[in-house]
Amino acid sequence: MERRSFLKASLAGGALAGGLGYYWYRQPGKNEFIAQTTDVQMLGEDYPNTSVWAFNDQIPGPLIRRKQGDTLAIRFTNRLPQPSTIHWHGIRLPNAMDGVPGITQAAVKSGEHFDYQFALPDAGTYWYHPHVATYEQIGRGLYGAIIVEERERIDVDEDILMVVSDIFLDKQGQIKDGFQSLHDAAHAGRLGNVILVNGQKARPKTMLRPGSRVRLRLINASSARIYRLKFHRVAPLIVAIDGHPCPVTAYKDTLYFSPGNRYDFIIDVPREEQTLMMLEDEFFPAMRNTLALFGTSNQSPLPARAPFQGLPPNAMMIEDHRNAEKITLTIEGGALSNKASRESIWLMNGKGNSHSHLDAHGNAPEPVFTVDQGCTVHCMIDNQTAWFHPMHFHGVVLRERQKDGRWGPAKDSTLVWPFEKQEIMFVAEAPGDWMIHCHVSEHHHSGLMGTFRVSNICRTTNPSKGSPTKAPATKT
Ligand code: C2O
Ligand code: CU
Ligand code: CU
Repeated sequence: MERRSFLKASLAGGALAGGLGYYWYRQPGKNEFIAQTTDVQMLGEDYPNTSVWAFNDQIPGPLIRRKQGDTLAIRFTNRLPQPSTIHWHGIRLPNAMDGVPGITQAAVKSGEHFDYQFALPDAGTYWYHPHVATYEQIGRGLYGAIIVEERERIDVDEDILMVVSDIFLDKQGQIKDGFQSLHDAAHAGRLGNVILVNGQKARPKTMLRPGSRVRLRLINASSARIYRLKFHRVAPLIVAIDGHPCPVTAYKDTLYFSPGNRYDFIIDVPREEQTLMMLEDEFFPAMRNTLALFGTSNQSPLPARAPFQGLPPNAMMIEDHRNAEKITLTIEGGALSNKASRESIWLMNGKGNSHSHLDAHGNAPEPVFTVDQGCTVHCMIDNQTAWFHPMHFHGVVLRERQKDGRWGPAKDSTLVWPFEKQEIMFVAEAPGDWMIHCHVSEHHHSGLMGTFRVSNICRTTNPSKGSPTKAPATKT
């Protein structure tokens, strides 16, 4: 039977056999996210569907699109064969809504639900994913995008979202088991053999009107893969990193794009016709991956615009560098290191942690450090391993110390190179225990995680009390 007719036939058969009851069972209510096993078409019509885990039966999960200052209320219902949570990556929110099992909430067991509700203080590009067994839960398809629109309209003709991820499939197009193998955990994590953009393997050419202005948002939702972005025949402007507006910077060479990262670009489409623009990943130069193809349409060109002036900044806490707490985080372990052991492949300040030890609520690990609310933290991350670690901090916005000694733009993680040090700085904003972990999921879950505690003794010189739900002081 031809594939297409087979598809139709099996759909009809399913409806007859399952009846409406089954259909309704799978329909989420308004603002309800249901995580469950389903199958989706990601390889194209000529291939079988792939059995995955997904939010509301789609990969990526439903796009959340709200306005800055809105409140997000979502019921998360877990129908997976294992516990789960949702973490709202990069969003400044109260600790109890952060979705970390054993630390901010009990993991949501199969058949149970949890209600998340919080305000969205910052505009920009964010994403969500579980915080339980992320090597498997993200690896099987549980992730989705969040777009928080600026209060004022941004003058662009198109807003294009690309959720980039990878998946490891066998010849039948089904996900290979063997998650969290010792080998993957001690090396660069599990890299998929198919790269998906918005849940699809195919790269249809997107036609853009000559002279138009496009905002391109990229999210790296891969469980472990770091990309190195290379644009061809177009040099966009970088306007936001990890959701937060940055000084408008012309793209020059290549950009590292680690798990969890986002970039917002502005592309002014050339006014000549027949331009083929391309975005590639060249992290492994011998194995390039095409991520996007853009062509110019034959519509009449739009008139040239004044240069893009940048996005309105999100309100940031004011740093107090003079009184900063000095912290060092030393990372050890992994393959090629004698520090790695069966108990913990990775260590942070001599200790490996894992979520499985924390699953019972109230059994949180000792924090790696404690600071008062409002404190500025200078943190030196010393990577004594042979591996890249995109270190992600929950609940804060950080800056990296650049080569020239100045502090770079706001972001929520920092890529620390093998055998290198990276200094970062952040203001401890909201009280609670917040995660620090590597966003290579296999590293995260084999030791490379810990927490820092923000006590509610407020020692701040900040005029705002640091609550992300109230408007923080604006940096001038
Ligand atoms: Cu994407 Cu702990 O986060
Ligand atoms: Cu996060
Ligand atoms: Cu790592």
